[in-house]
Amino acid sequence: MSVEESVEEPTAQGRVLDVEHVLAGLTLEEKASLLSGLDFWTTQPIDRDGGGAVPGVMVTDGPHGLRKQADSPDHIGLGNSVPATCFPTAATLGSTWDPALLRRVGEALGRETRANDVAVLLGPGINIKRSPLNGRNFEYLSEDPVIAGELGAALVAGIQSQGVGTSLKHFAANNQEADRMRVSADVDERTLREIYLAGFERVVERAQPWTVMCSYNKINDVYASQNHWLLTEVLRDEWGFTGLVMSDWGAVRDRVAAVAAGLDLEMPASGGRTDAEVVAAVRAGELDEAVVDVAARRVLRLVARSLPALDAPGTYDAEAHHALARETAAAGVVLLKNTPVDGRGGGPLLPLASGDGVAVVGELARTPRYQGAGSSQVNPTRLDDALTALRTATGAEVPFAAGYTVDGADRGSGTDDDALRAEAVELARTAGTVLVFLGLPASYESEGFDRTHLDLPAQQVALLEAVAAVNPRVVVVLANGSAVSVAPWQDLAPAVVEGWLGGQAGGSGVVDVLLGAVNPAGRLAETLPLRLVDNPSYGNFPGELGHVRYGEGVLVGYRWYDARELDVAYPFGHGLSYTTFAYDGVAAEVLSTDGGGADTSGSGGGTDGAARVRVRATVTNTGDRAGAEVVQVYVGDPVSQVQRPERELKAFAKIHLAPGESREVTLDLTARDLSYWHPVLRRWVLEGGEFVVSAGASSRDLRGSATVVVDGDDVRLPLGPLSTVAEAIDHPVVGARVDALVHGGAVGDDLLAMVGDMPLAVVADFGLAGLDRAALATLLTEANA
Ligand code: BGC
Repeated sequence: MSVEESVEEPTAQGRVLDVEHVLAGLTLEEKASLLSGLDFWTTQPIDRDGGGAVPGVMVTDGPHGLRKQADSPDHIGLGNSVPATCFPTAATLGSTWDPALLRRVGEALGRETRANDVAVLLGPGINIKRSPLNGRNFEYLSEDPVIAGELGAALVAGIQSQGVGTSLKHFAANNQEADRMRVSADVDERTLREIYLAGFERVVERAQPWTVMCSYNKINDVYASQNHWLLTEVLRDEWGFTGLVMSDWGAVRDRVAAVAAGLDLEMPASGGRTDAEVVAAVRAGELDEAVVDVAARRVLRLVARSLPALDAPGTYDAEAHHALARETAAAGVVLLKNTPVDGRGGGPLLPLASGDGVAVVGELARTPRYQGAGSSQVNPTRLDDALTALRTATGAEVPFAAGYTVDGADRGSGTDDDALRAEAVELARTAGTVLVFLGLPASYESEGFDRTHLDLPAQQVALLEAVAAVNPRVVVVLANGSAVSVAPWQDLAPAVVEGWLGGQAGGSGVVDVLLGAVNPAGRLAETLPLRLVDNPSYGNFPGELGHVRYGEGVLVGYRWYDARELDVAYPFGHGLSYTTFAYDGVAAEVLSTDGGGADTSGSGGGTDGAARVRVRATVTNTGDRAGAEVVQVYVGDPVSQVQRPERELKAFAKIHLAPGESREVTLDLTARDLSYWHPVLRRWVLEGGEFVVSAGASSRDLRGSATVVVDGDDVRLPLGPLSTVAEAIDHPVVGARVDALVHGGAVGDDLLAMVGDMPLAVVADFGLAGLDRAALATLLTEANA
């Protein structure tokens, strides 16, 4: 349904809002009033007797649970909110690589949103993890736009299936917390299109979120909230977004400019100040009233489409949602390492077996860190800790020692970290296997600030060293919202489990994996680097003097580590299972080569969506347990006019296989999947030629590759006075002539190398190669005819 259409079906309570009829009856002041919030969380109502009244609707955070503040509203997570299921954070959700599961999580989030009379859940957040230091990475899905887009679309579709809306955020290039309300993200357009906008584009095209939330920051010096190119040309005109754009809370600096740019709703309330500015601008002839009408219509439409759910809120099953949160937490656990140890039949430590004599060390096992701080902080309906979950599941009184304090918070023992460590070492000495729970304290990562290093707290590493010195059978279980450095200590532990911030059931979910009730199938959606200095944004993060330069261009995450041939701790896409998978018959075939097919319709465009290359791989579960493999398809273009990443994820599928079972997986690639954003032509371009298509278990564990030859677009630029001699020689129409002129003008091959880069205008002005300005003009006319 387009924005212009009304939603006129009466609700369960007989309410109906005829958008066009209501809009036509509003005064300018009333229309302007719709464009900002009433308070922190609701849109402004219009009260009228006898028809034409417009209710306000509530929007609320988001993204991994509902944070509905009943009273004393604030947006930084301080006030209490109603109990809601705290699903795993996006760090965990991203690691599931499972759109079908996230669709179910979305449905549950939607049910809770609806049951609480909320119209829009403020999420998901799909910003790219440019740096592991971003304090808010836990709220984002991946360093890769295909993962962010696919999983983001699944969440949006799930939430919206319940008759409530989403707000896809933060649009765009909000990749750090430092200076987030001012900083200009200085990014070239190709990088924006291929990395930072691509996930948003995918979600908009697949799932049409009801709303999009603009980010605080500037993009190339223009505030996102005032960026007409971003909010109107790209989002609406190119991608076909039909919903409403709202501001992040307090992101509007110039309301009139923002309305003109396409920012419909400013949140939260401005106390009427900016409404008056809009009215004054219209009266002064600085803003067209028709532009106000467009924005007001979008707000009315948001209200109208919210009414059916608001009038029939329904209920939800908190126990069932907790179970889903647990299933999802387990699905996002990444088994990083599980090497064989001595004395266990030559096998690894995981999954744990009865008789292992397990002891648990680490305060985080008892006091879980399961979500991040800030606007996304949910008040959970209940909370599972790993220690209790382990005791419950095993029926054993598993011994425990805290080992350290989290953020210096003493649980009343009155002891310091040295004493806690000594106590843990004594416990570990006699244990069969020691589970050591480590992670980042809340003070390390949060909305509002970034980390400055990747290290775990020193006392935690000291604990691990002391425990491993007395017992080598160590399993480390991590709780963190973004990559930490594992290299300094991971040799001390034969098994390492990345548990992320798994939500209210994170504790039981990770225990399900440790015990083998769930076979781990999470995969890293972000690279774990060896060192911070290896990260592509290093030196350009978080910027200086109000600017952050995205100097690494498209080489974000694994694209960079691959291009620079850098070793990493664990590569993008990595994750072990308790079973093993073999790949056979990786093959790729071209389905159609009719002239490329990337959209050549002008500025921006997308893709015709048709499959161009079909990739096949047969995967066999070669172990003795049922398990899931994520088949990852990467594409590289070895010869191109522009620098392209070595390989890029373009498709993936999570498949569940019984022991011994084989399945052929088929994944299709579109023209767009092979294309790059041409910075001069300002459109997607498919450059014909060879592409290398690989399938594998991670970005660095490719199990087979095939080469396909694909027809492409003509990406030749028009010849102009500033085209070089070499470019002219390359030209299909005048190339031979220019070649003859240059060589005829006594320029040998040795000199050609020198003049090859000389602009034709300079050649003409020097009178070289028999060219003068008039001859050049004729030549160019012929070339471009
Ligand atoms: C955050 C948003 C959030 C909003 C409302 C802002 O500070 O950046 O993600 O939705 O507050 O709480």
